[in-house]
Amino acid sequence: MRPDRFTDSHVLIFGGNSGIGLAAARAFKAEGARLTLTGRDQITLDEAAKELGALALRSDMAKPAESKAAVAAGVAKHGAIDVVLVNAGIGGFSGVAELTEEFWDGVHGVNLRGAFFAAQAALPHLKDGGAIVFTGSVGSIMALPGNAAYAAAKAGLRAAARIFAAELLPRGIRVNVVSPGPTETPLFNRNVGMGPEGVEALRREIRAAVPMKRIAEAEEVAAAVLFLASREASYINGVDLFVDGGCVEL
Ligand SMILES: NC(=O)c1ccc[n+]([C@@H]2O[C@H](COP(=O)([O-])OP(=O)(O)OC[C@H]3O[C@@H](n4cnc5c(N)ncnc54)[C@H](OP(=O)(O)O)[C@@H]3O)[C@@H](O)[C@H]2O)c1
Repeated sequence: MRPDRFTDSHVLIFGGNSGIGLAAARAFKAEGARLTLTGRDQITLDEAAKELGALALRSDMAKPAESKAAVAAGVAKHGAIDVVLVNAGIGGFSGVAELTEEFWDGVHGVNLRGAFFAAQAALPHLKDGGAIVFTGSVGSIMALPGNAAYAAAKAGLRAAARIFAAELLPRGIRVNVVSPGPTETPLFNRNVGMGPEGVEALRREIRAAVPMKRIAEAEEVAAAVLFLASREASYINGVDLFVDGGCVEL
């Protein structure tokens, strides 16, 4: 922790009430940030608001108008934005033969379309010299059976992030992606299309497959987010930083 990195910064986190987003929120707060968080679950939003003194807003990232409203509320409370973390995302497993249009649209509506328009909504209120970090996934480059919709959404997000980076250069806004490997968060237990036994079997398979033989803690991913959002990363733009225990080398 470096207390000076985010002192008095306004950090907006889409998907900040659980898992990686909550770990990042705690870390930003510990380094002095004022927080606006979004999510869907009122209970964990209230808990995050209480714990972190954050403005925690119920806002569905699949609905760009709600992301816009969350940005406006955050700016009204905390002023112009220094850092945006577009982290909200859902899992989703389905083999290609069975994958339905509804399933595809559900995953893409949040993980790609929703993420794109959330970042876009923040642009008019993001300070020049600020930073955007998107949460991608190592799944975007892995041929994991059943992961087509999710992988395609995260690969698309990475592509869009690079265009954000290029277009925002004149404003000095850096845009990067942090791509986690398997990380121990509630997401594991809410993988759409997979029951509890399926999730446990997936955990075992993952531990065996990851070169470091373990699943990451959310804080390990959050640390990379804070680095890319900070001035320490002042010459880093448009990268996709894998925090994945070495999976990218597989
Ligand atoms: N865990 C992993 O192994 C892993 C690996 C690679 C990438 N990722 C990515 O990391 C990011 C964070 O996931 P996580 O593992 O921390 O999972 P998580 O604990 O389930 O957190 C997901 C976050 O996104 C929010 N969210 C989901 N759908 C939303 C929507 N429609 N509108 C607004 N907020 C929404 C959730 O809010 P609610 O709780 O209120 O719904 C929550 O804050 C995701 O983008 C995920 O794809 C995770």
